[in-house]
Parts: sequence; structure tokens; C-alpha cells
Amino acid sequence: MEQKIKDILSKMTLEDKISLCNGADFWHSKAMEQYGVPRFTMCDGPHGVRVQKADADMLGVNESEPSTCFPTAVSSGASWNVELLREEGKAIGEEGLSYGVDVVLGPGVNIKRDPRCGRCFEYFSEDPFLSGQMGAAWVKGAQSTGIGTSLKHFAANNQEYKRFNGNSQLDERTLREIYLHAFETVVRDAQPETVMCAYPMINGVHCSDSKMLLGDILREEWGFQGLVVTDWGGLCDRVRAMEAGCDLSMPGGSDYMEDRVAAAVRDGRLPEDTVDACAARVLRLALRSQHREKKKPCDLEAHHALAQQIAEEGAVLLKNEDGILPLSKEEVVLIGDMAKHIRFQGAGSSHINPTNLVSLTDALPGVPFAACCDERGEVTDESLREAAEAAKKAKVAVVCAGLPGVYESEGFDREDLHMPEGHVRMIEAVAAANPNTVVVLFCGCAVETPWIDKVKAVLYMGLSGQAGGQAAANLLTGRVNPGGKLTETWPLRLENVPSYETFGRKYTHYSEGLYVGYRYYQKVGVPVRFPFGHGLSYTSFAYSDMKIDGRRVTATITNTGGVAGTEVAQLYIAAPQDGLYRPLRELKGFRKVFLQPGEKREIAFELNDRGFAVWSEGWKIPGGVYGIELGASSEDIRLRGEIAVEGEVVPVPEWQKGSWYEAPVGKPTDRDFETLYGGSVQPEPEIKKGCFTMEMSSMEMKEHSFLMKQFFKITEKTIAKGFGGKVDYSDPTFRMVVMAGADAPFRSTVLAGGGAFPANLAEGLIEMANGHLLKGLKKITGGSK
Ligand code: BGC
Repeated sequence: MEQKIKDILSKMTLEDKISLCNGADFWHSKAMEQYGVPRFTMCDGPHGVRVQKADADMLGVNESEPSTCFPTAVSSGASWNVELLREEGKAIGEEGLSYGVDVVLGPGVNIKRDPRCGRCFEYFSEDPFLSGQMGAAWVKGAQSTGIGTSLKHFAANNQEYKRFNGNSQLDERTLREIYLHAFETVVRDAQPETVMCAYPMINGVHCSDSKMLLGDILREEWGFQGLVVTDWGGLCDRVRAMEAGCDLSMPGGSDYMEDRVAAAVRDGRLPEDTVDACAARVLRLALRSQHREKKKPCDLEAHHALAQQIAEEGAVLLKNEDGILPLSKEEVVLIGDMAKHIRFQGAGSSHINPTNLVSLTDALPGVPFAACCDERGEVTDESLREAAEAAKKAKVAVVCAGLPGVYESEGFDREDLHMPEGHVRMIEAVAAANPNTVVVLFCGCAVETPWIDKVKAVLYMGLSGQAGGQAAANLLTGRVNPGGKLTETWPLRLENVPSYETFGRKYTHYSEGLYVGYRYYQKVGVPVRFPFGHGLSYTSFAYSDMKIDGRRVTATITNTGGVAGTEVAQLYIAAPQDGLYRPLRELKGFRKVFLQPGEKREIAFELNDRGFAVWSEGWKIPGGVYGIELGASSEDIRLRGEIAVEGEVVPVPEWQKGSWYEAPVGKPTDRDFETLYGGSVQPEPEIKKGCFTMEMSSMEMKEHSFLMKQFFKITEKTIAKGFGGKVDYSDPTFRMVVMAGADAPFRSTVLAGGGAFPANLAEGLIEMANGHLLKGLKKITGGSK
């Protein structure tokens, strides 16, 4: 193959090599028959394949072919079952191949920095160790079928607000230990065929253009062998991107900036070898794709059953007072529209057209049902009265609530952690009518639960995929014993979230440093609603006999209750607190065991160097005595031991002494962050007439320019045409498309526009908006790139 690649490259013109590094259309790379280069096909996504035969889009708006809709990562992650994730990856790989796909775009292993992120449902955890393990298993499973994967979104893409031109500012240690860790695990353990670089900037440099990220870290340090593809429309500067090792710009269709690369090669600024290296990686993937075994039918029924198993294992029993669950279906009433129309997936590029869909009412036929609220969660006094009446007649009232689609989506973030007021009123009305109220929650991330003390039990289904209704029914009735555990902390209230003040700004500084999720709540001593790792069962487990032999830790788990069940035992390391600043405890291992009543099993962990290491100009292990803590959650530690580690003395930097990071109280300020970062908070670019650039969106410029206001209105109206002419921001899909269309910088719109919005038009409009009317007109009429 390598010789063939060399031969092809030697025949290609410079222009063709550059052009090969730019996709053909929405989902394909370019075929170049004159050189014998085939194309390859990509499709979303992490929870099922989204293959579009007709109108393509990156937001899951247009119809796609039917495929199994697996639970989203919030649910599959909460299973803590790597084997199951491997099975899911395998099933998705098989379905992708059956549709002729070469690379499936997933998994997403970004850290859930803040529960408001619109894509939290697509990511596994707030913890990098867990995210890495889950992601690696998924990739191994998928690639075992012969399909390629795309690990995304690399890196530090932790909010949707201004995702195309935002900037994540963070210090190197936080980047390494928290935000890159899961990517590193997946790359080293599973070698995904591609990595997708993310939209935003890290410390002022776009991911596509970052030699540090793509070259030094990904390729040289971690040994990544595959291809780097941009997120759709995420290429910033084509010359710098090639220098960085960003191989393929997607989607294709616009040749924007290709001429700049050719010019850079011709005038000696860019070595042709650099272009060749990128083109070679595209060729390698294209040639390999010729040999994938495609179009084999797959067993969709088995995949539906697998989706159900993942939904069951990923559901978390948050509360179960008086052992009210499990219940018998004869005693129940189902209340809430979500029992009938379960929210089973999120909106955006991971949106699937399911092969089947089972709601809770389908799974519990004959059980009385009162919708009470509509699909948006709205209630009336009359509907509440009816729900209360229905609740009174049953022994147990099961209320289905959560977040309707309008609250959570790719493309925008949540403003708060509230559930719809109607859902809260519905829960409260039912709980007032019947003390035996159980809430089943369908939502992709944590919500505030001010009603929690009024209900007896809460079962959290996450976004549980097409078999979610059956899974919920099986769990409620005890056919299946819940065993999922939260992969993110549920705070008491939004204001407690460490990134409360810095999240959702265009330039967001990660001032909490390493203190993300439980690392923050525990160090600062902030109480939470439900801790990381929490999840109940219909049985109970005892932990005993911890033994530590060198780096090997063993313990015994016993099922001490009356029914079979699973336990996820979590191993945390409690590092010495007197050196470089560190969280109180960090997850470094977990084991999931299924035990019959009375059965016991020994579990074992092998800790490696990285488990103890910190980033301080390289990975270093500070010597000292480390606590070894084994527990049922991050706040329910059952067994403790110690390991004396012969490490090195890692000097504590001057700035740390007495800083917020050493002894955090409350939230860090910008000044605290500047000490951690070792520089100033980076200012957002000024948006005003005269300073407009291709890096700005019409939504940003419209406040300062009549022309941009008109342009924005036209964009909005054009988008509305696809929605029956209605400008309706309460429709999540409409909102998402407007954010992608009108809040993306002109650069991205040109790239993602497939030629419909040519570069000369975009650049001309910017000139005109800046007050250079003639120059702008000349650009527009001149047709320059
Ligand atoms: C999303 C990616 C997705 C791509 C293609 C982008 O907008 O961020 O996750 O894979 O579109 O649909």
C-alpha cells in the first residue's frame, strides 16, 4: 500500500493533492479516477448511524435511513460496562457497513465541564478516566467490524455557545490531566482510524491549525497513525492546518483557501512534503476503504435487544425510599406525556431515525395513563386536576418528566438547570394527591430537583434510545434490577457549579482548573444532590477484604440482599495534599460485577504509573503515601488502604502557595485564573464596524451594521422556509439551524456551504459592512476566492 501511495502522489499535480485534502460533498472524500483514487464515505454518529441518501446536513434535520437508536452516551456511560460499549460499537459498525459507510463519526469523549452544555447527552462523563475507558471500548468494538471511527471533538470543546469561533483558555496541566486524557486513552488503546478536530480555539489557536495539538501531542507523543478530519466547517487557515497535520477538511464542496496553499508551496512558505503527508493520509484511508466488507445485512432485532440492555444497565436509580420500587403493574398509573412520547435521543448530528420505538405506555399495556402535560411540558389547571384524580385511584403514581427536546440540543446550551415549570407542577400535584409517587426522568443531563423530598423514588433514564420505554418498564417492575451509576455530579443548584460564571462566554476561561465535577465539590466541601458514581439497586452489596500488594489492589464484593444485581465498585486514589495542588480523590479504576443473592466475588485492579502522575512539564509521579479508596460512589467509600509510592519531588510553583487552587473556597476569580494560567485572560475580539472579519458571524455583526442586519434577516427567513415559514426559536431544530447558519463565522459558512455561499461574496460583504463599498462590490463581482 505504501508504495502505491507513493506512486499515486508522484503522478498528482500540486493542485490535485491539495484538492484531495478537501472533501467532495457532505459525506464523501473526493474520488480521483485519473489516479485510481476511490472516495470514502462518512456518517454520524455515536449512538447509531445517520446515513443520508438525499439532502445531507450536519444537524440531523433532514431524513436519514432507519438505524438502531442506541442510548446516548449519558446512558451508555452510566452502565460503566466496557464490554457493553464494545458491543454497541460493534453493532453500529455493522449497521454502518451495511449502508456502505467507511467511517462512522464517533465517539465523543469531551468532558462534561458544565451541565448546561447542550451536548452533555452525547458525552460520557465529567471524569476523564471513565470517558477514556468507555470511548476506547466503543472504538475497539466498532473497528473490529472493519469500519473506521472518528474520535471527537478534539479538544476542549465543552460548550455549544459560539462553538465555531469561541476560545477555550486553560492552563496546560488542566488540559493534559482533564481535557486530553480521554482522547489519549482512546488513541493509545484503540487507534481510531480518524480523529475529528474541534471547532473552537484553545488558548487562541484553532484546533485545526494547532501543531501543538495535532502534531506534537496527537501524532508524536501518543503515536496516532490515522487521519485528522475537521469538524464540519471547522477548518480555520488551510495553510496552517496543513502544517499542523490536519489532513481533510469537511464538508467538501467549496474550494475556499485551496489557492492559498498552492501559493504558499510555490513561494516556499510551505514545503510540498507537508501537503504530500496530508494527501498520503487521505489516500491511505481511501485505499483501505476499498477493501471494507460492506453491504452485509445485519441483525436489527438483536441490535434492538442490545439497545434495550444498554438502556437497562445505564438507568440510574437515584432514590428509593421505603423500597417503593419495584412495583407491580396492577397498582400503577402512568402520568405525563413522556410516558407515551418518551424522550429517547437528543437533537443534532447524532439524531437517528429509529428502526423501532417502544414507549413506556407500549411496554405497560393496560396500565391507566393521564398525559397531564403536552410535549413541551405545559399543563393547565384542568389537566393537573385530572392527573391528581388519576393518582388518587392508584397505589403508586409514576410520573414521567424531564427535559423536552427544546431544552437540550447540539448548537445551543441550556440557560439554567430547571425542568419545565409544567413538569414541576405536575410532579407536585401528583405527589400531593398520592404520597407514593415515583418519578421517571428522561433528560440528557442533570436537572435541579426542588421536588425531590415530595416523592418516594426517582429513576433516571437519561436519553435511553429506541428501547428506552421497555427498559424503564422492566426496571420499574423489577424484571431487571437497576445497576447504573451517575457519571456526573448532580448539583443542588446551578450556582454551585464550578464553572457557573465562566461557562457560556465566547472566550471562556477554565478558571476552576482541575476542579471539574466531583473534584471541585469534594475539595471545596460543597454539598451536592447526587454524587458522581451514585446509583441504587434493589439489593445491597458489602465490600470486604481489601488487599494491596505492590500496585495490585483486590477486594471482595458480596450481594447481601435478596435479588440478583450488579455493583460498580469504584477505585479512587487520594493523593498527598502537600505538594502540587490536587483533588481529594480521583477515579482510577472500576469493576462491574453481577452477583446472585449471597454470592461473592473477588475483584482486582492493577494500578499503573499514570494513575499517580501529574503534569508538570511532562508526566511526573510525586512520591508519597497515596490513599486507595474503594467505594460504591465518590462519596460512599467502603474500604481504605494506602500505597507508598517512590516517586520524585515535584516542585510546587511559587504562585500556588496560598492561592485559590491550594485551598479553594467559593469560586476562583479572574485574578486567580491568571496566576494559574501564567498570563492574562484573553480578551474577546471587538466587534464593530471597521473591524469585521471572516471570523465573525452575521448574528454578531448585525448589531453594528445595517447590511449585516439585513443579511441576518435573509438568512433567518431562508431557514424559516424549511419550517413552514415560521420564525420560532422555541423550536429546537429551528434554533439549532439558525445558530449553525447565522452564528457561525463567515469562514465556516463558506466552507460548509458547499459552494452556495462563495468566498468572494462573503469577503465582499465583510468589506462593505466595514464601509469599503467599492472594494466589496469589486470582490463580489470579481469572483475571487
Ligand atoms: C458536529 C459533529 C458531526 C458533524 C457532521 C458537526 O456539526 O459537531 O459532531 O459529526 O457536524 O454531522
